[in-house]
Amino acid sequence: MSDHNDHDELANRRRRKRKMLHFDASGRDLVESEKPEETFADVGGLEDVKKKIRMNFILPLKQPELFAAYGKEAGGSLLLYGPPGCGKTFLARAVAGEIDANFMHIELQAILGMYVGQSENNLHDIFEKARENKPCVIFIDELDAMGGSRNQMRQHHDRILVNQLLMELDGLRTFNDQVFVIGATNTPWYLDSALRRPGRFNHMIFVPPPEEAERSTILQLKLDGKPLSSLDLGKIAKETKYFSGADLEQIVKDSVESAMERTFESGEIEPITQEDLKKAAKQRKATTLDWFATAKNYATFSDVNQDYQIVLDYMKQSGLK
Ligand SMILES: Nc1ncnc2c1ncn2[C@@H]1O[C@H](COP(=O)(O)OP(=O)(O)OP(=O)(O)O)[C@@H](O)[C@H]1O
Ligand SMILES: [Mg+2]
Repeated sequence: MSDHNDHDELANRRRRKRKMLHFDASGRDLVESEKPEETFADVGGLEDVKKKIRMNFILPLKQPELFAAYGKEAGGSLLLYGPPGCGKTFLARAVAGEIDANFMHIELQAILGMYVGQSENNLHDIFEKARENKPCVIFIDELDAMGGSRNQMRQHHDRILVNQLLMELDGLRTFNDQVFVIGATNTPWYLDSALRRPGRFNHMIFVPPPEEAERSTILQLKLDGKPLSSLDLGKIAKETKYFSGADLEQIVKDSVESAMERTFESGEIEPITQEDLKKAAKQRKATTLDWFATAKNYATFSDVNQDYQIVLDYMKQSGLK
């Protein structure tokens, strides 16, 4: 067995061992549950975001007496939003890792696809499970899918599910410390406004694209363990302004492809070169730009509560029009 396989096997075994709960309904995986090992240290940059999460989530858990003095309890919910591929899912896992909590990743699409009645019951079961497994982070990805459909029948169905979620979130306030709910969305402006009322997802956190230094780190992470010639990642980071983590991952994949093509031609393992990365970066465009264009529209024309001022500030600061 090669080193690489050994490594995979070890990682798999560790993953299996750390899978604490498993939740299944009608034979479908609605929610994946485990104890993530990633912590904030694995998330490159995003210092402001981490600080906000620390204040609202992590410190109350570690120093409950301090927060109790102000009438605050550990637990609650926050909403991560921003362009695709910039680390929302990654960050949510790291929060769980940071407080050594169980992590339940809800596949909202799977729940939404169910019959009326079944979806709400499942959602309720998930929150029950979380209470039994405190501390626990419930992660609801693509939250905007809830209540976002135009079809009349579906809208009615979604409405019921949104109401159920509201009930669960309100319940958290009364008797569920140490259960945390993190929602994520690319389109917070489509979110059902009831979900945004105080006590529900009232902490909104903008997750921006990685800065230059973070881009270097992410490239490094993604290249780790592959055959490399000597590389100047700082240079690539400079040329990939506005690229998301996922975009950078794609650049690495493209470069691997080029190196493998050469390998097949020469019959020897060919390392990934600076030129491979440079070429791949040139051929791709930052996928965050469309998001900023849309966000700017909402922030400028329909942002009554000034929720998205932070996005406008970010755009101004980083030279986005
Ligand atoms: N700050 C970061 N540090 C390290 N890796 C990152 C960072 N941001 C993104 N990544 C990497 O980029 C990839 C995409 O991140 P992730 O899936 O968390 O994005 P997302 O914001 O949830 O995207 P989407 O909106 O499409 O769901 C992941 O593989 C992650 O490892
Ligand atoms: Mg995601």
